[in-house]
Amino acid sequence: MTPDQQKQAAGAAAAALVEPGMTVGLGTGSTAAHFVRALAARGLAIRGVPTSEATAELAASLGIPLLDLDQAGLIDLTVDGADEIGPGLALIKGGGAALLREKLVWEASARCVVIADALKTPGDFGRFPLPIEVVAFGHATTAARIDAVLARLAGGARASLRLRDGRPVRTDGGNLIYDAPCGAIPDPAALAGALKALTGVVEHGLFLGLAERALIGTDDGVITFLP
Ligand code: 5RP
Repeated sequence: MTPDQQKQAAGAAAAALVEPGMTVGLGTGSTAAHFVRALAARGLAIRGVPTSEATAELAASLGIPLLDLDQAGLIDLTVDGADEIGPGLALIKGGGAALLREKLVWEASARCVVIADALKTPGDFGRFPLPIEVVAFGHATTAARIDAVLARLAGGARASLRLRDGRPVRTDGGNLIYDAPCGAIPDPAALAGALKALTGVVEHGLFLGLAERALIGTDDGVITFLP
């Protein structure tokens, strides 16, 4: 199977968890898009809470009724992709720059399920740079403070401004993204707390203690991992 077929299988397995009447958080990215398509194909009476403008557009085009987070209240189940799945199903997210809305929706959810292809089988962190969302005002000053935190807690990684076509990437909320190649991250909770404490940092891509299971598409079927 190609990675995309594995993502599709994981998305379909997650869609099978959804029951009629549920309010469902809809993640962002190529894997989450497979979930949204599989969910729409089931034709259930559910309502979706999108985590990005891109996902809202996709879900609406497929006929899924949408709520915003404030209308939704408690979300029954959120399904989303991840960039890397670490120990205890700690996640790095934000490769698609949607980490803030994703985390708001995840934290409003009774259950969160992460879906991915076999290349993202749970293991140690180390490959994917940690995305950090930063307000544009004074962002270089904030980045210097981020680097000081990384020097203490992430082996001296340096955060760099995410660019696309030579221009800074803007999130749906109008903020900027810095990416920090942290490597193994000895203490993710300490790093998460220290980044969150910096004025100018809106959110970071460490999702800790949120995923109740990972559904990983493999050549041998979809495998479930628990924290
Ligand atoms: C977006 C995300 C995505 O879930 C993450 O980037 C994975 O994307 P994909 O499924 O395309 O590999 O965190 O902010």
